[in-house]
Amino acid sequence: MLAMHENKFEFSYKVYNNIDELPKEQRTLLKKAQQVCEQAYAPYSNFHVGAVAKLLNGEIVTGTNQENASYPVGLCAERVLLASASSQFPNVPIETIAVSYKSKFQKNDHPVAPCGICRQTLQEFEGRVNHPVQLILGGMTGEVYVIDSASKLLPLAFTNEEL
Ligand code: THU
Repeated sequence: MLAMHENKFEFSYKVYNNIDELPKEQRTLLKKAQQVCEQAYAPYSNFHVGAVAKLLNGEIVTGTNQENASYPVGLCAERVLLASASSQFPNVPIETIAVSYKSKFQKNDHPVAPCGICRQTLQEFEGRVNHPVQLILGGMTGEVYVIDSASKLLPLAFTNEEL
Protein backbone atom coordinates (compact mmCIF):
# COMPACT_ATOMS: atom_id res chain seq x y z
CA MET A 1 0.00 0.00 0.00
CA LEU A 2 1.24 3.49 -0.85
CA ALA A 3 1.98 6.02 1.86
CA MET A 4 -0.18 9.11 1.85
CA HIS A 5 0.04 10.60 -1.61
CA GLU A 6 -1.72 13.03 -3.87
CA ASN A 7 -3.75 12.05 -6.90
CA LYS A 8 -4.16 14.35 -9.83
CA PHE A 9 -6.86 14.54 -12.48
CA GLU A 10 -5.95 15.81 -15.89
CA PHE A 11 -8.58 16.95 -18.31
CA SER A 12 -8.05 18.16 -21.81
CA TYR A 13 -10.46 19.36 -24.45
CA LYS A 14 -10.33 21.04 -27.83
CA VAL A 15 -10.87 24.77 -28.22
CA TYR A 16 -11.88 26.13 -31.63
CA ASN A 17 -11.83 29.88 -32.26
CA ASN A 18 -15.31 29.80 -33.73
CA ILE A 19 -17.96 27.52 -35.19
CA ASP A 20 -16.51 27.79 -38.71
CA GLU A 21 -13.36 25.96 -37.62
CA LEU A 22 -15.34 22.85 -36.61
CA PRO A 23 -15.45 19.78 -38.86
CA LYS A 24 -18.63 19.87 -40.95
CA GLU A 25 -20.73 17.36 -39.01
CA GLN A 26 -19.99 19.03 -35.66
CA ARG A 27 -20.68 22.46 -37.15
CA THR A 28 -24.08 21.31 -38.41
CA LEU A 29 -24.99 19.93 -34.97
CA LEU A 30 -23.96 23.12 -33.14
CA LYS A 31 -25.88 25.28 -35.64
CA LYS A 32 -28.97 23.21 -34.95
CA ALA A 33 -28.44 23.63 -31.19
CA GLN A 34 -28.29 27.41 -31.75
CA GLN A 35 -31.57 27.22 -33.66
CA VAL A 36 -33.46 25.07 -31.15
CA CYS A 37 -32.76 27.64 -28.42
CA GLU A 38 -35.82 29.37 -29.89
CA GLN A 39 -37.95 26.45 -28.67
CA ALA A 40 -36.94 26.78 -25.03
CA TYR A 41 -39.51 27.74 -22.42
CA ALA A 42 -37.49 30.06 -20.21
CA PRO A 43 -39.65 33.04 -19.25
CA TYR A 44 -38.08 33.34 -15.78
CA SER A 45 -34.34 33.26 -16.53
CA ASN A 46 -34.59 34.45 -20.13
CA PHE A 47 -31.68 32.07 -20.66
CA HIS A 48 -32.67 29.85 -23.57
CA VAL A 49 -30.70 26.63 -23.96
CA GLY A 50 -30.77 24.25 -26.92
CA ALA A 51 -29.26 20.77 -27.09
CA VAL A 52 -29.06 18.45 -30.08
CA ALA A 53 -27.91 14.83 -30.03
CA LYS A 54 -26.75 12.57 -32.79
CA LEU A 55 -27.38 8.96 -31.82
CA LEU A 56 -25.34 5.98 -32.92
CA ASN A 57 -28.29 4.86 -35.07
CA GLY A 58 -28.17 8.20 -36.94
CA GLU A 59 -31.27 9.69 -35.29
CA ILE A 60 -31.26 13.33 -34.21
CA VAL A 61 -32.96 14.26 -30.92
CA THR A 62 -33.35 17.77 -29.51
CA GLY A 63 -34.01 19.22 -26.06
CA THR A 64 -34.55 22.69 -24.63
CA ASN A 65 -34.83 24.00 -21.10
CA GLN A 66 -38.35 23.96 -19.69
CA GLU A 67 -38.91 26.25 -16.74
CA ASN A 68 -41.77 26.52 -14.27
CA ALA A 69 -43.24 29.21 -12.01
CA SER A 70 -42.14 26.91 -9.20
CA TYR A 71 -38.49 27.43 -10.12
CA PRO A 72 -36.93 24.11 -8.95
CA VAL A 73 -39.37 22.21 -11.16
CA GLY A 74 -37.56 23.51 -14.26
CA LEU A 75 -35.48 21.17 -16.39
CA CYS A 76 -32.24 21.83 -18.25
CA ALA A 77 -32.04 21.27 -21.98
CA GLU A 78 -29.52 18.45 -21.54
CA ARG A 79 -31.79 16.39 -19.29
CA VAL A 80 -34.84 17.03 -21.46
CA LEU A 81 -32.78 15.71 -24.35
CA LEU A 82 -31.52 12.64 -22.48
CA ALA A 83 -35.01 11.74 -21.28
CA SER A 84 -36.39 12.11 -24.78
CA ALA A 85 -33.59 10.12 -26.46
CA SER A 86 -33.80 7.39 -23.85
CA SER A 87 -37.59 7.18 -24.23
CA GLN A 88 -37.71 7.18 -28.01
CA PHE A 89 -34.61 5.06 -28.59
CA PRO A 90 -33.94 3.08 -25.40
CA ASN A 91 -30.36 1.92 -24.95
CA VAL A 92 -29.12 3.51 -28.17
CA PRO A 93 -25.82 5.29 -27.44
CA ILE A 94 -25.46 8.99 -28.12
CA GLU A 95 -22.38 9.90 -30.14
CA THR A 96 -22.46 13.65 -29.70
CA ILE A 97 -24.48 16.36 -27.98
CA ALA A 98 -24.12 20.00 -29.07
CA VAL A 99 -25.31 22.64 -26.59
CA SER A 100 -25.85 26.33 -27.20
CA TYR A 101 -27.73 29.13 -25.49
CA LYS A 102 -29.25 32.53 -26.09
CA SER A 103 -29.60 34.89 -23.17
CA LYS A 104 -31.70 38.01 -23.38
CA PHE A 105 -29.51 39.91 -20.95
CA GLN A 106 -26.02 38.39 -21.14
CA LYS A 107 -23.53 38.07 -23.97
CA ASN A 108 -23.81 34.84 -25.94
CA ASP A 109 -20.19 34.84 -27.02
CA HIS A 110 -18.65 31.91 -25.10
CA PRO A 111 -19.48 28.26 -24.33
CA VAL A 112 -21.42 27.27 -21.20
CA ALA A 113 -20.92 23.85 -19.63
CA PRO A 114 -23.64 21.54 -18.22
CA CYS A 115 -24.70 22.04 -14.60
CA GLY A 116 -23.87 19.49 -11.90
CA ILE A 117 -27.16 17.59 -12.11
CA CYS A 118 -26.80 17.25 -15.87
CA ARG A 119 -23.21 16.05 -15.48
CA GLN A 120 -24.45 13.33 -13.14
CA THR A 121 -27.21 12.36 -15.60
CA LEU A 122 -24.82 12.34 -18.56
CA GLN A 123 -22.36 10.21 -16.61
CA GLU A 124 -24.98 7.54 -15.89
CA PHE A 125 -26.22 7.59 -19.49
CA GLU A 126 -22.69 6.94 -20.76
CA GLY A 127 -22.24 4.15 -18.24
CA ARG A 128 -25.42 2.33 -19.02
CA VAL A 129 -24.95 2.27 -22.79
CA ASN A 130 -21.20 1.86 -22.38
CA HIS A 131 -20.36 4.60 -24.86
CA PRO A 132 -18.90 8.10 -24.39
CA VAL A 133 -20.97 11.17 -25.21
CA GLN A 134 -18.91 13.79 -26.98
CA LEU A 135 -19.93 17.35 -26.05
CA ILE A 136 -19.77 20.37 -28.34
CA LEU A 137 -20.30 23.57 -26.37
CA GLY A 138 -20.68 26.98 -27.95
CA GLY A 139 -22.61 30.23 -27.71
CA MET A 140 -24.05 32.14 -30.64
CA THR A 141 -20.54 33.39 -31.42
CA GLY A 142 -17.04 32.87 -30.06
CA GLU A 143 -14.99 29.87 -28.99
CA VAL A 144 -16.27 26.31 -29.15
CA TYR A 145 -15.19 23.54 -26.79
CA VAL A 146 -15.20 19.87 -27.78
CA ILE A 147 -14.98 17.36 -24.94
CA ASP A 148 -14.47 13.65 -25.75
CA SER A 149 -16.61 12.27 -22.98
CA ALA A 150 -19.14 14.01 -20.72
CA SER A 151 -17.91 11.99 -17.73
CA LYS A 152 -14.66 13.90 -17.86
CA LEU A 153 -16.61 16.82 -16.40
CA LEU A 154 -17.40 14.80 -13.27
CA PRO A 155 -14.30 13.36 -11.64
CA LEU A 156 -14.83 11.09 -8.61
CA ALA A 157 -18.45 10.63 -9.61
CA PHE A 158 -20.89 8.66 -7.49
CA THR A 159 -22.05 5.89 -9.80
CA ASN A 160 -24.52 3.02 -9.89
CA GLU A 161 -21.60 0.64 -9.28
CA GLU A 162 -21.95 1.53 -5.60
CA LEU A 163 -25.52 0.27 -5.33
N1 THU B 1 -29.74 25.53 -18.13
C1 THU B 1 -29.71 24.54 -19.07
O1 THU B 1 -30.73 24.21 -19.67
N2 THU B 1 -28.53 23.93 -19.32
C2 THU B 1 -27.33 24.31 -18.78
O2 THU B 1 -26.31 23.72 -19.12
C3 THU B 1 -27.29 25.39 -17.78
C4 THU B 1 -28.59 25.94 -17.36
C5 THU B 1 -31.01 26.22 -17.91
C6 THU B 1 -31.66 26.00 -16.58
C7 THU B 1 -32.52 27.26 -16.46
O3 THU B 1 -33.73 27.07 -17.16
C8 THU B 1 -31.71 28.31 -17.18
O4 THU B 1 -30.79 27.61 -18.01
C9 THU B 1 -30.96 29.25 -16.27
O5 THU B 1 -30.23 28.55 -15.33
